[in-house]
Amino acid sequence: MAVLGVGGDCTKQIRRDQAMTKKKSPIGNPGALLALAASLVVLSCGMARASVASTKPPLKPITVNLRDKAALRNGALYTLHMCTACHSLQGARYSSLPHMLGMSKSEFEAIIGTNGHHYHDTITTSMPPAIIEAFAKIPPPDLTDIARRRSPAWLFTYLTSFYVDPSRPSGVNNVVFNNVAMPDVFAPLQGLQKPRMIEGLRYGSPAKVAVGVLPLTKGSMTPAQFDRTARDIVEFLYAVAHPHQQERARLGPWIIGLFVVLSILTYLIYKLYWRRVGTSEERWWRVGK
Ligand code: HEC
Repeated sequence: MAVLGVGGDCTKQIRRDQAMTKKKSPIGNPGALLALAASLVVLSCGMARASVASTKPPLKPITVNLRDKAALRNGALYTLHMCTACHSLQGARYSSLPHMLGMSKSEFEAIIGTNGHHYHDTITTSMPPAIIEAFAKIPPPDLTDIARRRSPAWLFTYLTSFYVDPSRPSGVNNVVFNNVAMPDVFAPLQGLQKPRMIEGLRYGSPAKVAVGVLPLTKGSMTPAQFDRTARDIVEFLYAVAHPHQQERARLGPWIIGLFVVLSILTYLIYKLYWRRVGTSEERWWRVGK
């Protein structure tokens, strides 16, 4: 018994020792580990925030109205004739556009056209990729879902904010896309622009950052006309990225109406059932009372 008793005491001592060792070492202590992890996370977050701190230029607000078919048609005209020189819109087909633009097939072919492609083809770029890459070094991205990846306000600001920058190979830079590889395709329409620079931060380092543009030369359009054109292009890109939005907006009220009717019917059935349950003498929970 004594041996057993000693054995018991030893086990207790060992357990207590283990507990003390646990307390001493932060590896065994969940509380200390948690505190360590939390401080590491806070530290790394702080470092990450510090390393990417950049001065963000303000975006120009824009409201997209997909019911404005004239704007969509104008946007389609510019996008399919200017942008597809480099970019593709492979997620869309020419044949899906007339419905979106509120036109018939023959109107679409006469006014906007398919750039020599088949009517049912996907919208591809007219330039061979090798030439584009040699020219721009970076392949121009497909624009089908660009309005999902970038907000309409960002796209509008991007399209209107190219400025002259002699240090760039293309001679231009962009307020919201620093060191962009895309040339200023709007220069003939909009004219050239110079940047409005401030002392700010780029990736955590002090730098001169462009936060806006000022006109330098005149283009063939007035600023208001050009803004309208850029807005129309953004509206068209938005419509391509959200091909079922108009259909959803049309169906939405009907679906809500259907649920309202179903709710009323369900309520009436509930009332009917419970009226009968309430007047019955043999309700199951009262049986035997
Ligand atoms: C001469 C070729 C060329 C033409 C024409 C052109 N682009 Fe680009 N575009 C580029 C290249 C190259 C890039 C890639 C820029 C980069 O990653 O630095 C680009 C990038 C873009 C981006 C940014 C994509 C992103 O990653 O966020 C948008 C938006 C865009 N173009 C829209 C347009 C629109 C709209 C038009 C028509 C008005 C157009 N582009 C015409 C070459 C072109």
